Amino acid sequence: MIDIHNHIIPGVDDGAKTVEIALDMVREAKRQGIKRLVLTPHLYEPDIMDGTKAWQEKIERGKDRLFDAIAKDGQGIDIEIEIAAEVRYQDWLDKIIDELDVLIGGKYLLLEFSFNFVPNRIEDIIYDLIKRNITPILAHPERIVPWQNEPGKVIELIRLGCLTQIDLGSVLGSLGRSSEKLAKILLDNEAVHLVGSDSHNLSSRPLYAKSGHAWLCDNYGQNLADKLLIENPERVVRGAELEIFIPYLEKQPDNWRDKVKQWLPFRGSPR
Ligand SMILES: [Fe+2]
Repeated sequence: MIDIHNHIIPGVDDGAKTVEIALDMVREAKRQGIKRLVLTPHLYEPDIMDGTKAWQEKIERGKDRLFDAIAKDGQGIDIEIEIAAEVRYQDWLDKIIDELDVLIGGKYLLLEFSFNFVPNRIEDIIYDLIKRNITPILAHPERIVPWQNEPGKVIELIRLGCLTQIDLGSVLGSLGRSSEKLAKILLDNEAVHLVGSDSHNLSSRPLYAKSGHAWLCDNYGQNLADKLLIENPERVVRGAELEIFIPYLEKQPDNWRDKVKQWLPFRGSPR
């Protein structure tokens, strides 16, 4: 498997707090069957208020500490590691793309929006990226509250050219009932292209790679599980196109909004 979304670089965001935890996360990833990790530290607006250089240096330092630890104490960990970022949408997006190595496979941008607010001009934002030959991967759309209320918006963005990445913790129910419900709605509608661990540690936000893959096999079949955790991420890391199904809203019931409300009794109160 290939994990394209995690917070393993130590001491750079709210992920691994120490290099020891980061090394344990890499060990655990290998144990669960991950052969390649794309490390995606958060990149928020305040991170680059003084320019992009400081963020770049911070990531380099974290990466060096992790690689040193793997070389010194991680004998036998045979795993490929590369660095990108999970970029929160912000006004400086173009500058970030121009000045930092945030793309995966030179083409894909793991793009995150606020959990409670999606910009009105999101279609323009997506269109501008696609014009630059960059394919946005929506990071965990199932956790974005406005989309939990209106799942059709995610499908509209796929039709504009976005890919979607859902978190393994969402499908397993550890990120709240609302996220779990939307993750399953998107899976049911073939509107998921990638899954990622979004792992922050080994306790509250673990990898769930093995259990997540098993759950997908049991509920959606091995073909889809392999596509989401092996084949599609493999294409993304080498900058190749994905074969994607464009979902249609016609598959949904007429009373879409009511149905979603029924399914989301705990909206706003994640476990
Ligand atoms: Fe993340």
